[in-house]
Parts: sequence; C-alpha cells; structure tokens
Amino acid sequence: MDINVINKAEMLEFTERGDDRGHLVICEGGIDIPFDIKRIFYIYGSDTDVIRGQHANRKSEFVLINVAGTSKVKIKDGKGNETVYSLNRPHTGIYIPKMVWKDMYDFSEDSVLLCLASTHYDAEEYIRDYDEFIKIINEEGD
Ligand code: TYD
Repeated sequence: MDINVINKAEMLEFTERGDDRGHLVICEGGIDIPFDIKRIFYIYGSDTDVIRGQHANRKSEFVLINVAGTSKVKIKDGKGNETVYSLNRPHTGIYIPKMVWKDMYDFSEDSVLLCLASTHYDAEEYIRDYDEFIKIINEEGD
C-alpha cells in the first residue's frame, strides 16, 4: 500500500472555453481526466445535512465536479490523514485515487455533483464499513 495515497488526490483545473455565448468546459478521458472514463453518475437533490459516499473503492478512481452549486468532499487514508476539498466552481474537480474513504456533504440546494469513474459499477469493490476499511489498510501494511 502506498503510504502517500492521500497525496495522490488533487484538485484539477479545467480550461474554460468562454465566448459571448457562455462557458464550455471539456473533460476528455486520459487527457483532462487522469483515466479512461467508464462511467458517469451525478448526485443532486441532497439536503444540506446529508452525508453521501461513506465508502472506499478497491479499484475505482473518481473525478468529482460540482457542475452547479457547491459541496465538500472529505477524504481519509485510514492512517489518520484527512483532507477536505470545497467544490465550488464548474471548471474545477477533485481527483480521488482508489482506497481512500470518501464523504460528500454540505450540498447546496442547487448542487449537481458530477462523478466520473474509471470503472463500471461493481458493488463488490465498494468497502462500506469504516472499521473494515481501516483493517484492510493496516493489513496491506507498508
Ligand atoms: P451509493 O454508492 O450509496 O451513492 P453515493 O456514494 O453517491 O452516496 O449508491 C446508491 C445506490 O445506487 C446503491 O444502491 C448503489 C447504486 N449505484 C449503482 O447501481 N451504480 C452506480 O454507478 C452507483 C454510483 C450507485
């Protein structure tokens, strides 16, 4: 297990191609997004007190973009390190590597959180129990 896995997470800044008709942001897999995009889903209509995510993924990498509104993403590496990212602009995203715990919260009423994933959906690769996540991280060791 890479001890610096949480450091692989990073904010991505996409080029805004604006003209007098408005803005255009392009996210191409393998170019603007650091993986080939296999799946997209989006989350909206979550109340401000809702916490989503609350899982880690054995295989999937994600890029999260608030294409409208705002939210926060907290990621934890299971070794005591955590980082909070604010998603508040449609041309920025957060890259999240595999095997980090994710919480999405503080959704604005108009939040539309676009999620790009490196895999097709497979429920088996989700770790939804935090204690199990900690156990796996520690078992995999350094
Ligand atoms: P869940 O992972 O709990 O959502 P979030 O991480 O955004 O809080 O997913 C909610 C439900 O949707 C759950 O029953 C699994 C299903 N689901 C799919 O079938 N495919 C998908 O790509 C995703 C993300 C979820």
